Amino acid sequence: CGIVGYIGEQEATSIIFEGLRKLEYRGYDSAGIATLQPDGIAVRRSEGKLLNLEKLLREQPLAGSIGIGHTRWATHGRPSETNAHPHRAGSIVVVHNGIIENYLGLKEQLQAAGHKFSSQTDTEVIAHLVEERLKTAGSFEVAVRTALQELQGAFAVCILCKDQPDTLIAAKVGSPMVVGLGQGEFFVASDIPAILAHTREMVFMEDGELAVFNGRSACFSTIAGAPLEKKARHIDWSPLMAEKGGYKHFMLKEIHEQPRAVRDTIAGRLQEQQGDVYLEDLGYADAALQTVQRMVIVACGTSWHAALTGKFLIEGHCRIPVEIDIASEFRYRSPVIDEKTLVMVISQSGETADTLAALREAKKLGAMNLAICNVLDSSIARDAAGVIYTHAGPEIGVASTKAFVTQLTALYLFTIRLGRAIGRLSVSEGQQMIADLKKVPELLEQTLKLNGQTEKIARQYMNARDFLYLGRGRNFPIALEGALKLKEISYIHAEGYPAGEMKHGPIALIDEHVPVVVLVPKNSTYEKTVSNMEEVIARSGRVIALCSEGDHEVQDKAEATLELPELSDDLDPILLSVPLQLLAYHIAVLKGTDVDQPRNLAKSVTVE
Ligand code: G6P
Repeated sequence: CGIVGYIGEQEATSIIFEGLRKLEYRGYDSAGIATLQPDGIAVRRSEGKLLNLEKLLREQPLAGSIGIGHTRWATHGRPSETNAHPHRAGSIVVVHNGIIENYLGLKEQLQAAGHKFSSQTDTEVIAHLVEERLKTAGSFEVAVRTALQELQGAFAVCILCKDQPDTLIAAKVGSPMVVGLGQGEFFVASDIPAILAHTREMVFMEDGELAVFNGRSACFSTIAGAPLEKKARHIDWSPLMAEKGGYKHFMLKEIHEQPRAVRDTIAGRLQEQQGDVYLEDLGYADAALQTVQRMVIVACGTSWHAALTGKFLIEGHCRIPVEIDIASEFRYRSPVIDEKTLVMVISQSGETADTLAALREAKKLGAMNLAICNVLDSSIARDAAGVIYTHAGPEIGVASTKAFVTQLTALYLFTIRLGRAIGRLSVSEGQQMIADLKKVPELLEQTLKLNGQTEKIARQYMNARDFLYLGRGRNFPIALEGALKLKEISYIHAEGYPAGEMKHGPIALIDEHVPVVVLVPKNSTYEKTVSNMEEVIARSGRVIALCSEGDHEVQDKAEATLELPELSDDLDPILLSVPLQLLAYHIAVLKGTDVDQPRNLAKSVTVE
């Protein structure tokens, strides 16, 4: 989603609209703008591309020099005009990025107090809550501060009030927000490119901060009200660099977005006390899940690798047999499926033709069916009986990164839900799994610090002709994914293998020219994997080991090591993915390939 706000002397609508246009590349499904006018607030919203909003504004222009706008990438509530931002309640109008975790509870309270809701979004709750607090708060600003302190989750908001014709309030908790300083005017945006044409002097808001723009002044404070001194920074990024958040490529930006992406995928779904998770669109209640006798997970490419790890999770915790298939194979092998089979399809885009066809085949055969998708209302999401959305946000780089780790996260969430529903997982086991999951975003941040070290390793090995990737168990699919990333963007031949299977063939390839990436975290198959690593070393292979922090045994043996924080067997694959993505990325950059749009590949393949 994107936010743009303006307060000054110029026509707000055109500045906001141009800003929204700069955020267009992120994908959107609806957009809207609201401005303050002498007689109240006027709102224009439309579903679909910005072009629709542009047409609407031509027919019904929006005057005013204070306004807020939004492009939406749906999370709660399907794309439609009613779910488009800005959202209004009485005298209040709001645009919002992020996810309000406790919106259902707040909505019930507000409905009980007489508030009528017109959308399915979590955002509308913010407008009503501020409106409600306005009754007792005495001022717009106090009402906003009070309301925001009641919200849980991540958000960036811009808020206007009809009775405060010269005020705009912005606040940030978790989602980005930047303020551009102009001549007697202020620009607010979720992303720098939206306002770069107007100013290069920018103040970056931090979590828990709020800004009140009042006529010609800006006051920064904490949401609770403690005043803050904020310094402006001069941003000399080119417009293209700004689109990529200052990163050289979308892929690198998206790799760095992974802690946020996982946080958003978990947000609002954990029921810690019950040791369970809430999956809002799952489509199957406990009784239906209890009839599942086996599962088949079907996907393509990177999503298929996610599926392979799902087998370990679901079989391990739910004791239901799980079969994994490649979508283009599945439908042509007359699969054995009945109404007691749950077929899950995994697709980032929700548009992959083979995966869609596999889903339709499964439905035809009467199977229960479910999708893991990143794109709301995509063909697969619409077709499946249930869907678990990943909240990675739009992924632009063709090589999937953040979508993959959120797919792993979604599979983990599903495992807890299924395990609890069929009584295979106890409350305390569920609680333990949740406690581990909650550590992931922070540990991902830590893992990203390996970037510099990974670049050095990339320089050392970039000229190799072939790479091998070895892992066992849950980490075998991650070895496959590491090899795929390297192939996709650096065009180096790479293969992933189960570490124990190497001796049955690929070992013949090993000599002093072949780098072998070994995934060897301290887990239940650690010793065995170390032995496989020694087999490689004995044949002069060059081992790059991904091991647990402080593992001196592996460090002494391998030529290069990257140390990762310890987590759990189930969640190690998420952390291990990061250095593998970075390794492929740096090798590709050093080789000078087109990282974001590698040759011959497409982000979403809609032909069979
Ligand atoms: C294409 C992309 C891959 C992706 C695969 C499946 O081949 O290049 O990165 O993994 O499609 O895409 P999906 O959107 O179904 O996950």
